[in-house]
Amino acid sequence: MNTGAMYQEAVATTQALLTEAAQSGEPEPTAMTLATVDAQGRVSARIVLLKQFDERGAVFYTNCESDKAAQLAAHPQAALCLHWKMLRGGIQVRVEGRVERTSAAESDAYFATRPRDSQIGAWASLQSQTLPARIDLDARIAQFEHQFAAKSVPRPPHWGGYRVVPDLIEIWYGQRARLHERVRYECVDGLWTKRLLYP
Ligand SMILES: Cc1cc2nc3c(=O)[nH]c(=O)nc-3n(C[C@H](O)[C@H](O)[C@H](O)COP(=O)(O)O)c2cc1C
Repeated sequence: MNTGAMYQEAVATTQALLTEAAQSGEPEPTAMTLATVDAQGRVSARIVLLKQFDERGAVFYTNCESDKAAQLAAHPQAALCLHWKMLRGGIQVRVEGRVERTSAAESDAYFATRPRDSQIGAWASLQSQTLPARIDLDARIAQFEHQFAAKSVPRPPHWGGYRVVPDLIEIWYGQRARLHERVRYECVDGLWTKRLLYP
């Protein structure tokens, strides 16, 4: 469990920026790049949505049989990158650390807040697998709509959350003439430190 005044400052600053970004007109303020590595060391990156950020870490939800999930099973380490172009002079937040699954209760609670179409989609999509033709996905959607007709949709067992537990948080503030400000918070030997980096 991460603790200490410096870590709390990093988390509080990121939370304040997330709130500011949501109010700044950014079209997707919670969209972030998620980079993962497979067992052979090959890196993949894609966008996911940040659903929670607090002292425990950064949470996103996905299909636990997807490519990213297989990569995280082989190598439970990830890097996240958020970018808010319209906020102040542009802000980037980087978060890195080990990855753990959220609890079943936490995943259930979040799944229950999703729109019904998205819940059905979570059942229907075999994320990252070959889709022979679009009609095959449509058929699966129809199948699960029928299966859950007039019922609430439970969370699929293959769908849930992942939490990136930070050992690094860097906040990058865009400045004139590319002389950006980089504030890096990092856990070194169990102690959180803060330093500036050359841009
Ligand atoms: C704006 C945006 C938000 C996305 N949010 C998510 C998300 O929260 N979870 C998710 O699994 N995929 C999300 N995706 C789709 C992923 O980028 C990706 O295509 C998918 O997760 C499969 O990745 P994988 O095959 O590497 O596992 C999002 C895509 C975009 C463009």
